This record gives sequence, C-alpha cells and structure tokens, in this order.
Amino acid sequence: MDKTIEQIKEAALKELETASDIENIKTLSVQYLGRKGFVTQFLRNISTLPKEERPEAGKQANIVKAELERRFKETIERLDAGAESQTKHIDVSLPGRKPQTGSIHPITQVTLQICGIFTKMGFQIVEGPEVETDHYNFEALNIPKNHPARDMQDTFYVSDNIVLRTHTSPTQPRVMEKTDPPVRIIAPGKVYRCDSDITHTPMFNQVEGLLVDKNVSFGDLKGTLTAFVHQIFDEKTSLRFRPSFFPFTEPSAEVDIQCVMCRGSGCRVCSHTGWLEILGAGMVHPAVFENVGYDTSTYTGFAFGMGVERIAMLKHSIDDTRKFFENDIRFLRQF
Ligand code: DAH
Repeated sequence: MDKTIEQIKEAALKELETASDIENIKTLSVQYLGRKGFVTQFLRNISTLPKEERPEAGKQANIVKAELERRFKETIERLDAGAESQTKHIDVSLPGRKPQTGSIHPITQVTLQICGIFTKMGFQIVEGPEVETDHYNFEALNIPKNHPARDMQDTFYVSDNIVLRTHTSPTQPRVMEKTDPPVRIIAPGKVYRCDSDITHTPMFNQVEGLLVDKNVSFGDLKGTLTAFVHQIFDEKTSLRFRPSFFPFTEPSAEVDIQCVMCRGSGCRVCSHTGWLEILGAGMVHPAVFENVGYDTSTYTGFAFGMGVERIAMLKHSIDDTRKFFENDIRFLRQF
C-alpha cells in the first residue's frame, strides 16, 4: 500500500475545498468513494497487510470513508441551497401580478335585476326546494296525474313522488299554505327539464311571481308586467298578451315583447314576426286557491313565470343558451 488512509483523506478534503460546483464534487466522490475509488481500493488491499495490522487499518478506513461521505453530502447540499435561493431571488423592479378576481355570472346579474325591479314594487323574494314533491310541482297547481300538461314538461323523476322541479311555480302553493293574503312574492331559482339543444339546457333559471289580494284584476297583471318590461328592457318596448293555457291560471296568457333586435320590423331572432315570447302569466285558478284553503269569493290574484336565460339572451344578443353554462372565461368576462 503506497498511501496511508490519512493521506487519502487529506487529499480528498483539499480537493473538496477548491471544488466550486456540484458536478465537480460528484466526480470527486466517484474518484474517492466509487467502486474503483481510492478509499475502496484501500479497503480492498487490507487483506495484503500483515495480519495484526488488518483490524486497525480496517477500522480507520471505515471511519475515513464515513467522514468523506458526510462531507461530500454536506457540500452538495450547501451548494444546492445556494442555487435555489438564487433562482428564488425576487426582482422588485418587475410590474406586479394582478390576482385573478371573479365576477357575477350574467345569469345571476339578470336574476338580481329582475328581483330588484319587483322588490321595488313591493314583492318579497322567496325560495323553494329544487328537489320537489309531485304534490307541489303538479298536484297543488291543478295538474293531476295523467293530465296532458305533464307531458309538456319533460320531468326528471327522483322517485315515484319526488321530482326535480320543472318550474318555480311550486313556490306558489308552498307560500300560500303558510301565509294569509295579501301575498306578493317573487321566487327565483333553478329548474330542470330533460331537454337539450341550442335553446334548451337540462337546467335553467326561472323567476316566478304571485300576487294575491282583494280586487286584483287582469289589468293589474298587465300594468305590473308592463312596468317590469319597461325597466328590464326600455320604455319603448311594447308588449302583447296572447290567450294561452296553463292549468294553474284562468284566463292564461303568453306575453310577447316587441323584438329588441329589429324593433318589430322582423328579423331572424323573432322568426320575422316582430315579437318575442318572454313569459307565461294569468289569473290564479280558483282550484289552486282551494288547494291551499284560500277563500275564492274574497280573493283573486295573478301569477307569472319567466325564463332568465331567455331574457339575458335578449338583453345581451346571445344566440346560444349553452354558452351560459360552458364557463368559458372569454365569454363570461364580457359581462
Ligand atoms: N310555470 C310555467 C312554465 O314553466 C310558467 C308560468 C306560466 C308560470 C303561467 C306562472 C303562470 O305563474 O301564471 O312554463
């Protein structure tokens, strides 16, 4: 053996001191501790030493081996940490990064506008459950089992008697059951129908309205809805009431507004009719009052229901209702 283990150790530490980068140190580590490294060779050669020197030489060599391993490791770690703090260095001269903020969804914005207009007219906002009983969704609204009106609405059934509400109208009997007249409520919320294309999504939003009092007439309904349309669109937007049918109102009407795109002259959006349907309405059917125990000889009322997506599409000239639910940030940022 030409070099003592002490000499090998000193040489290694000296070289380690001058090594400046991690690659360098890794090479050194191989040179000293690798399979053919100096320390390994020394250990291997111990068998050539006189028998009595072998135990001590082995012990010393293992101590040196452990120490060198520790020193190499420490130095690598120290250099690693330095490199990291350099890459994490903060350049204070760079412009700041703006945190991304959310905004109110256009459907929520329009719902709030609709509710705002009606609360100014004295309506109270109420909410009902989205998972509804057959009773409130249909029965209490004068839509008995096997009534053809049930086919009009493609219902999602949870079980025989539980549905995802197909409209916000069930809030009417729910509120009337608990409240004596006068009633003046507006009920926004999500509704569900098994339907999907460019103008339909399986979930959409409605706002329901109900007013019950003594001497409420169809004229009150017309006046209220006209005031609403003039505020949500503009004063120049005219309305028309077309006779229609809903099991829970009599008489019933569908309400059209003059096309907001062509102002009535006819275009693609209004199918060249000059009119756009925006809601259903009518005078509350006496059967609905009887179901909740209201005295039909004293009270009358009107109700209406509108689709929020429909109104939002007309307000913002959007042609595909699915855009509201795709959550494309480039679309949503525009509102
Ligand atoms: N619930 C009806 C629908 O979803 C809308 C409606 C029509 C609501 C007339 C009413 C009403 O309150 O009086 O199509």
